[in-house]
Amino acid sequence: MAAPLAGHHVAVLLGGPSSEREVSLVSGAACADALERLGAKVSRVDAHRDVAEILTRLQPDVCFNALHGAWGEDGCVQGVLETLGIPYTHCGVLASALAMDKAKAKAVLAAAGVTVPGGGLFNRFDVARDHVLPPPYVVKPNAEGSSVGVFLVMDGSNRPPQEVVDPSWTFGEEVMVEPYIPGRELAAGVRDGKGMMVTEIIPRTGFYDYEAKYGEDGSVHVCPADLPAHVTEKALQLAEQAHAALGCRGVTRSDLRYDDINDVLVLLEVNTQPGMTPTSLIPEQAAKQGVGFDELVLWITEDAYARGGAGGIASPGESSGQSARQSQR
Ligand SMILES: Nc1ncnc2c1ncn2[C@@H]1O[C@H](COP(=O)(O)OP(=O)(O)O)[C@@H](O)[C@H]1O
Ligand SMILES: [Mg+2]
Repeated sequence: MAAPLAGHHVAVLLGGPSSEREVSLVSGAACADALERLGAKVSRVDAHRDVAEILTRLQPDVCFNALHGAWGEDGCVQGVLETLGIPYTHCGVLASALAMDKAKAKAVLAAAGVTVPGGGLFNRFDVARDHVLPPPYVVKPNAEGSSVGVFLVMDGSNRPPQEVVDPSWTFGEEVMVEPYIPGRELAAGVRDGKGMMVTEIIPRTGFYDYEAKYGEDGSVHVCPADLPAHVTEKALQLAEQAHAALGCRGVTRSDLRYDDINDVLVLLEVNTQPGMTPTSLIPEQAAKQGVGFDELVLWITEDAYARGGAGGIASPGESSGQSARQSQR
């Protein structure tokens, strides 16, 4: 196979300190392997507080950011990379920070005309004391991912979730509480501003929780989703609109609910660092569009270079070294 990244040094950021560390290790390993197959010299960097020192020493041409969750997906690492002048994949500082904060993202998305769930932020002790919304409703951290800390309070339940006041709760004083949106679980990818495809996720258990996302046989993906054409169209349009409204770049994945009784689509969130294992939703959608995993990883990397102002990957000489990095500004 051709080696389009021969002569390029790519640092893959993976792992990190977030609750989604394990998922990121899998995404990062898959992307690093693909980058090696594409001919790149790859440095795998388990990103912690010393990431700036490590990258200063390694002097990569580009960073492939395969981190998920707090710190890697919320603008912090993106800020470090901006400071170091290293081109990087996926969203920039502002879009990453915005998308990670569910309350802020919903405000921006609603203003842009995207339908988002109602509800809002509540103090966790108030949430544990009494129902702050009539059941059914959902309680979730304002800035986590992978369904970590998400609780469904179903119809008829007489007890709000007590987990939010457990001493082990580390997801903030304010929690997001939303009316439960019944119906089907959808995910729509966006690449380069264009909607990719819609996948329906059918969890084997109650809802699309951590187990359903990552457990063996936890859920079934139907890709492309078997939906009426107008629903597919609308889901792609909402995902594109959300990607643009938050100022995203590269590849994102929007999570949606489709209330099929009332024919209403609601966008839950935009993921700026979607899972990148070969069986993740975005690689699966790309594959269905005829873009294999390595080709997708190549596109994401090229896109980082293009935005880094380094002149594209056809010219490795120009894309490495101080001058290329300085030209980012
Ligand atoms: N308002 C809601 N109505 C119904 N289900 C929800 C709602 N909010 C979250 N969920 C369920 O919880 C999952 C995780 O919520 P999400 O907002 O996507 O956060 P995360 O960042 O953890 O993925 C969703 O995929 C969905 O199955
Ligand atoms: Mg989600």
